[in-house]
Amino acid sequence: MLGYQWEEKYSVGVQSIDNQHKEIFRLLDNLFKALKSGQAAQTTVRIITELENYAVIHFHKEEFFFRQFNYTESPEHLQEHKQFIEKVAAIKADAKSGKLASSFELINFLKNWVDHHILVVDMKYRGCFHENGLR
Ligand SMILES: [Fe+2]
Repeated sequence: MLGYQWEEKYSVGVQSIDNQHKEIFRLLDNLFKALKSGQAAQTTVRIITELENYAVIHFHKEEFFFRQFNYTESPEHLQEHKQFIEKVAAIKADAKSGKLASSFELINFLKNWVDHHILVVDMKYRGCFHENGLR
């Protein structure tokens, strides 16, 4: 699966957040499978709807803890969440209008998201969440 399975290096040290992050890998995997079997267009729209639901729940959870723990890097982090929502909405509009490239764009965007947002940006709150007793 081109190395995009969840693995230990993606762990932010908090079980419930790791579980939510695994969901993005599952959606990425579903998208690969859909592309391979030639059902990309309808599947992309369905996966994007799932992604939007995921994003609302997941971002709210992280942002709740940022407020609870007065996390200092919250503004930059929230900015990335906002950009995620905007980008996904733009890809969804393309997918709905039948643009074939939207499936590939979504895959590239999600790959970049797991490697940049989870590995770099999310990792920064690891210490803060741990100091506040979250596991
Ligand atoms: Fe995040």
